[in-house]
Amino acid sequence: MTDFRPYIEKVNNALEECFPQDDERLTEAMRYSIFAGGKRVRPVLTMLACEFCGKSPERALPFACALEIIHTYSLIYDDMPCMDDDSLRRGRPTNHVVYGEAMALMAGMGLYARAYETVIASDLTDRQKLSGIDILLNASGFNGIVLGQVLDMENNKNTLSEQDVLRIHRLKTSAMLEACVLCGAVAADEYGEKKDALHVYAENIGLAFQIRDDILDVVGTKEKMGKSIGKDKKECKTTFVDIFGCEGAQEKVKNLSETAVSAIKKFGNSEKLCDFADMLCKREN
Ligand code: IPE
Ligand code: IPE
Ligand code: MG
Ligand code: MG
Ligand code: MG
Repeated sequence: MTDFRPYIEKVNNALEECFPQDDERLTEAMRYSIFAGGKRVRPVLTMLACEFCGKSPERALPFACALEIIHTYSLIYDDMPCMDDDSLRRGRPTNHVVYGEAMALMAGMGLYARAYETVIASDLTDRQKLSGIDILLNASGFNGIVLGQVLDMENNKNTLSEQDVLRIHRLKTSAMLEACVLCGAVAADEYGEKKDALHVYAENIGLAFQIRDDILDVVGTKEKMGKSIGKDKKECKTTFVDIFGCEGAQEKVKNLSETAVSAIKKFGNSEKLCDFADMLCKREN
């Protein structure tokens, strides 16, 4: 099994440069959530995709940071009282619990802007920057997180079909994982069949990732997850666990992961992405 820790370390060092410490409470609030110990799934995936396309994974670091920063903003908002109203995230009290709702809103906006500042300030080419920003906007806006979260807010009557749930998963979670591999490909100047294969891989592991999250919301522990569990049932959200049961949902995770892996296996150099998919579908946190 590949050791992903060296990638995580590079991401953390690069993120440190994106958020220099100063005396502003806003900076403290942004750093609080960024350095709370997330798994760094999205930035590692971005780097692995770039490497899969035959270039050094470090080339993709500006995109990797941007994706982790956007993800972190989305978690701050997801936890707000007007959304999931959660008080624990990444093993710590949520941002609004520590800094208040108004500051959490501003920290989220500050993070979102910093993601794009990071790409613009990088030494990527103008073409890479523009392509990457287009991908990031797409995944974070109406074709991604924002609409996904809105549909998920309305998913509170236990009435959705499998197709409805898949649509929400695709928008709120897969879109970002797709953006990771697409940005990795852009950083490697890969616009051909490897990029298309990566896209299929990410669509599938993205869905598997959210289904696994919903399973862990039922069978996981607060200690391991670093966030509260049992929330989906409490909020009457339809998930794959409701439709297929825990075992059936995990079977879906396995099938999606196999489809993901088969999309990239025909190319050389796919071992790390295969290990990554395997790790994600067995994760406990
Ligand atoms: C949590 O994402 C939100 C989902 C899309 C399921 P992660 O499980 O990647 O959370 P962190 O980044 O490790 O905290
Ligand atoms: C959130 O989904 C996905 C985002 C886009 C933030 P959840 O609401 O299931 O994520 P957790 O379980 O709180 O991490
Ligand atoms: Mg939510
Ligand atoms: Mg939530
Ligand atoms: Mg969840």
